Amino acid sequence: MIWSRITGTGGYLPEKVLTNHDLEKMVDTSDQWIRERTGIAKRHIAADGQTTCDLAEVAARRALEAAGRSAQDVDLIVVATTTPDKIFPSTACLLQQRLDVHGCAAFDVQAVCTGFIYALGVADKFVRTGSARCALVVGAETFSRIVDWTDRQTCVLFGDGAGAVILEAGDEPGVLSTHMHADGAYETLLHVPFGVSQGYDKVCEHHAYYVEMRGTEVFKMAVNTLGRIVDETLEANGLDRSQIDWLIPHQANIRIIQATARKLGMPMDRVVVTVDEQANTSAASVPLALDTAVRDGRVKRGETLLLEAFGGGFTWGSALVKF
Ligand code: ACO
Repeated sequence: MIWSRITGTGGYLPEKVLTNHDLEKMVDTSDQWIRERTGIAKRHIAADGQTTCDLAEVAARRALEAAGRSAQDVDLIVVATTTPDKIFPSTACLLQQRLDVHGCAAFDVQAVCTGFIYALGVADKFVRTGSARCALVVGAETFSRIVDWTDRQTCVLFGDGAGAVILEAGDEPGVLSTHMHADGAYETLLHVPFGVSQGYDKVCEHHAYYVEMRGTEVFKMAVNTLGRIVDETLEANGLDRSQIDWLIPHQANIRIIQATARKLGMPMDRVVVTVDEQANTSAASVPLALDTAVRDGRVKRGETLLLEAFGGGFTWGSALVKF
């Protein structure tokens, strides 16, 4: 039996930092409100001209280095992003060119904040079925480009960044299971209302397309849904919640993360939290959190990790990983 295993992780955050105090000068908000409601203190913002592919490239190279692989070993590239550089080609193809890799399959996955879980699930299936042996899986976003910086209800929540993993074929269990779900009935609770084939004239007219969110409804759905995905993941693997070493959640809001940790009966010192330093980086948040905890020595080889996320669509999902 072929398993897929994470053999290296990488991450990248743009240099520019925007603190809550900086935001106090931009909109009617306060550091105290943002910290109490979300747990966020600051976020990183891509420089003018710095693209999603630029962030993805640094994270990808760091993941390759950590895995002891060269770009030439990669035979599949999957990039999860909501903020691609171009309408087409995909950011995965742009990244492929940057890495000087030619010929292997490369495509983007769009599941907003659940994007990395989807990308990992898809890449895992490629590896398990023998279609790839060394996959590069990336979550990368320049979400700041689709945020209305005059809207205090959304602009305080998001940041930019990229995270990546190398997923290799092996005999030992690595990715134990992945779980992906969606329900398009909730489209308008969290969306960018315009795109290429709908409202493009408005985008051109206003030079803008922004995230719109009904935060309280999204919050409730996220807490309930993530509770269910935890149960589903444990059941599928015949595991008790005490057998999870680390919870590596999507970083949208510390209160959502705490609710999932309570559901798992996990103390917060077994939960990887980066939302305070990075805010919500959408598809990048789970791989960035994983990379942070691997590099600072918290997550060790052989430990069992529960990765989970919830986002626009709605989409939600999880991955149980023997690291
Ligand atoms: N600063 C100060 N006051 C604010 C701000 C702000 N930045 N934003 C809203 N307020 C005000 C509101 O106007 C409201 O005032 P009112 O009572 O006078 O009407 C008050 O604060 C409370 O607003 P709520 O929206 O009810 O606050 P809530 O406690 O729900 O927190 C938040 C809002 C942080 C957005 C929360 O609902 C949340 O985190 N939602 C989920 C976000 C999420 O998980 N998204 C999913 C992933 S994102 C993706 O997929 C792209």
